[in-house]
Amino acid sequence: MKKSYNVAVVGATGVVGQTQLCVLEERRFPVAELRPLASGRSAGQMVRFRGRDVEVREATPDAFAGVDIVFFAATAELSKTLAPEAVRRGAVVIDKSSTWRMDPRVPLVVPEINPEAVAKHEGIISCPNCTTIGFVMALEPIRRLAGVRSVTVTTLQAVSGAGREGIEELAAQERAAADGKEAPEPHAFARPIFENVLPLCERFRDDGYSTEEVKLLDETRKILSDPEIKVAMTCVRVPVPVGHSCSMLVETVRPVTPAAAQAALAAFPGVRLVDDPSHNVFPTPLDVSGRDEVLVGRVRRDLTSDRLWLWSVIDNLRKGAATNAVQIAEELIARKLI
Ligand SMILES: NC(=O)c1ccc[n+]([C@@H]2O[C@H](COP(=O)([O-])OP(=O)(O)OC[C@H]3O[C@@H](n4cnc5c(N)ncnc54)[C@H](OP(=O)(O)O)[C@@H]3O)[C@@H](O)[C@H]2O)c1
Repeated sequence: MKKSYNVAVVGATGVVGQTQLCVLEERRFPVAELRPLASGRSAGQMVRFRGRDVEVREATPDAFAGVDIVFFAATAELSKTLAPEAVRRGAVVIDKSSTWRMDPRVPLVVPEINPEAVAKHEGIISCPNCTTIGFVMALEPIRRLAGVRSVTVTTLQAVSGAGREGIEELAAQERAAADGKEAPEPHAFARPIFENVLPLCERFRDDGYSTEEVKLLDETRKILSDPEIKVAMTCVRVPVPVGHSCSMLVETVRPVTPAAAQAALAAFPGVRLVDDPSHNVFPTPLDVSGRDEVLVGRVRRDLTSDRLWLWSVIDNLRKGAATNAVQIAEELIARKLI
């Protein structure tokens, strides 16, 4: 088994790609050579890694020669065309786009929940959507404790979930408002996001659901290997820089008290219970930004049924994307699958 690996990051100049470089460094991932890749627009730019500047190259099939692991954090189209090229050249791909997630040949992995799924990979492993990861990380401890029949969830998603363009759009609208100018036409979001809340993430399908909402349902079922679990959802974009929140109402199979649910959440790896209403202690996006744990609080019994309320927050760029991807790579190494 190798002791260190040649690693490419496709999308190294984007918000997830930049976080990817930080997380690889922080976790001392055994990188022999780092190959940051992006579009031709960024070729020649420098990114920082382990205190050095490393030149960005254009992502082309030949850029994967000699690479062991490729983290894709670019666009869905690029993953579709280039991920098979990387696999053809002998690399394992860990993809953060939506392209391969529902492909039956591709494992969809949250290492705290279904690490064993990595063993079935045929070259590509997918990372779930950032919202799905925050959701299932809070749900799984309850599911293991009492089974889950159905969940009704509303997500409140940060603008960085839409990448660099989403962050810049909020900032531009904020600046325009401060200067008393008219805001530029929105591009990343369908309507202005500054001082607003949009019940739309990504785009609407013909049935009135957003593509993001359907991902949350389909991906949850695949990760949990439970095609019957009922998830009723509304995904909402909010003017928050980083941190996706979920308000969820969970119907369990067996009765569960809030205290037992809190204990299960506190004991689950990667989850931190932040729940003390008597001292106004509950998790918020500001609390989770820069952290890898999913924070969960507001655990309480519904006043009109036996269901449980939970509130979770996740840093969408770290555990929602980059950290989860590195954990998958660590799992591959631990299981000698690379
Ligand atoms: N943002 C999140 O919270 C989040 C969470 C989970 C998963 N994801 C997924 O992660 C991926 C990256 O998202 P992001 O938010 O980091 O987006 P972003 O900030 O917009 O960055 C996009 C990256 O992709 C590169 N890219 C775009 N078109 C390319 C092309 N034709 N060839 C090569 N590189 C190209 C860009 O390079 P240039 O700088 O050269 O344009 C940039 O590095 C997406 O698939 C997204 O769905 C995002």
